[in-house]
Amino acid sequence: MKKLMDMMAEQLAAAFEKAGYDASYGKVTVSNRPDLCEYQCNGAMAGAKVYKKAPFVIAEDVIAALGRDSMFSMAEVVKPGFINLKIKEEVLADYLRKMAKDEKLSVAAAEKPKTIIIDYGGPNVAKPLHVGHLRSAIIGESLKRIGRYVGHEIIGDVHLGDWGLQMGLIITELKYRQPELVYFEDAYEGEYPTQAPFTIGELEEIYPCASSKSKEDENYRNEALEATHLLQQGRAGYMALWNHILNVSVSDLKRNYENLNVSFDLWKKESDAQPYIPDMVERMREQGFAYEDQGALVVDVKEETDTKEIPPCMLLKSDGASLYTTTDLATIVERMQLFSPDEILYVVDKRQELHFIQVFRCAKKTGLVKEETVLSFLGFGTMNGKDGKPFKTRDGGVMRLENLIADIDAEMFTKIVENRSVKDKDARETAKIVGLSAIKYGDLSNQATKDYIFDVDRFTSFEGNTGPYILYTIVRIKSILNRYAEAGGSLEEGVILAAVNDSEKELMRVLTGFGSTVENAFEEKAPHKLCAYIYEVSNAFNSFYHETKILSEEDEKQKKSFVQLLVLTKKVLETSIDLLGFEAPERM
Ligand code: ARG
Repeated sequence: MKKLMDMMAEQLAAAFEKAGYDASYGKVTVSNRPDLCEYQCNGAMAGAKVYKKAPFVIAEDVIAALGRDSMFSMAEVVKPGFINLKIKEEVLADYLRKMAKDEKLSVAAAEKPKTIIIDYGGPNVAKPLHVGHLRSAIIGESLKRIGRYVGHEIIGDVHLGDWGLQMGLIITELKYRQPELVYFEDAYEGEYPTQAPFTIGELEEIYPCASSKSKEDENYRNEALEATHLLQQGRAGYMALWNHILNVSVSDLKRNYENLNVSFDLWKKESDAQPYIPDMVERMREQGFAYEDQGALVVDVKEETDTKEIPPCMLLKSDGASLYTTTDLATIVERMQLFSPDEILYVVDKRQELHFIQVFRCAKKTGLVKEETVLSFLGFGTMNGKDGKPFKTRDGGVMRLENLIADIDAEMFTKIVENRSVKDKDARETAKIVGLSAIKYGDLSNQATKDYIFDVDRFTSFEGNTGPYILYTIVRIKSILNRYAEAGGSLEEGVILAAVNDSEKELMRVLTGFGSTVENAFEEKAPHKLCAYIYEVSNAFNSFYHETKILSEEDEKQKKSFVQLLVLTKKVLETSIDLLGFEAPERM
């Protein structure tokens, strides 16, 4: 569906042309003086130099050419030559009627649908999810949903970290605790037990214990390195343990992600890329890209235009072990083979930027991807506490994601019970739904690349730019529509009529922006723009609600029109929060 802004710009462009000026001056923007007008066109100002005429004169010509039949109820010149515009109420209503019928609510399907892999989540096996993993999950999930909505084929891959030192650490610690296990018997040739020798709870205790031991004790650390190496060589007992660790952890991770309303199409792992490494490295060597430097195998990736030093990309350490970089490169090889994506988007902590610069350059230079394949990195900022430092527990530890969610839910529960609009029994469920909106909206409403402060009080508030406020607005609309339906009204009947007051017109105007907002949010990988948009919609709706008698309207046709406007507003808001990855309760 055509965008309203484009329709207006077309009329302006035609008017410029008709008046003898270049059509390209006919651009329309939302007014920056909402007290004077709704939209504006500054083309006459831009044209003044070229045509050596006062902008005022050009503007007058254009308005004359625009004529009375335009989309505008007002087109006025103000000095020195701005064109101030107001749209006709009937034009707006007509647009919304069409939008309400459009399956995608005016969002245009991508002209050339692309296959895009989004690499997000990135948890590490055997380590509990902590707040550091929250942003990747939330932002990645939202981009996946927005991308699909605009018509791309999106493949979400969790890319589990399952191949690093943490595996060696766990194996080493297990060996200390239970040396009698068959996994450690060199000569063992039988089947390994199908039951893991630990629970998820034990696993989560084993890892930090092993990790801190390795920091204090060099021998222990070397043992863990050796175990990692043996695992990577495929030693049977260790592979069997690795399998147990993986299974136990993955089911726990799935449960956690489910609570966040986050899901992945692929549960691929770092280890899946390992088989691609030998060939890849060999090719890079043969083609002369990779060379030995102090025993290690590296590829130069610096470029002349670099303003800071970009060190070579390391493929193999001197002992032949592969690294994070190697795994990421091999994963690219794997992804190209399995899915030949047009783009791979990584949603990862911005502190890993250098790593991705190296990986992307190396992949392009050595031909792992086509020239036109897009490799992009959305590096997000840190989630900080109120003290401006990375978010921690009260005693300074790493905050587990589960605990963070539980804290928010408890806070929400208190607030919902205070409101007393929900029965106690349902309040827990509602608190969960609203709590998730608080966390996700709190995160997504900030520009992803920036650090932000996770402020529990602010995020859980029903007022201001928060998730709960948005949900509150949706619930308010639902409740009006329910009352209308209970009184025998039909939600299917009636059409949206021209606005009866300014606040209704404003709501209608804001609603028309949905299509371009969603398209733009995907283009710029900026879910925060969708957040800003639904905040605007919610504010506009609430003003309309306060200034308009909706269900007590006597004119049936008019009442039905209000109801249809509510239905559309609800659709826009519900679709938007779904794209952001949360939902609204029935009551709150
Ligand atoms: N597991 C990694 C970490 O915790 C993040 C993985 C990001 N994705 C990637 N392809 N490197 O830092």
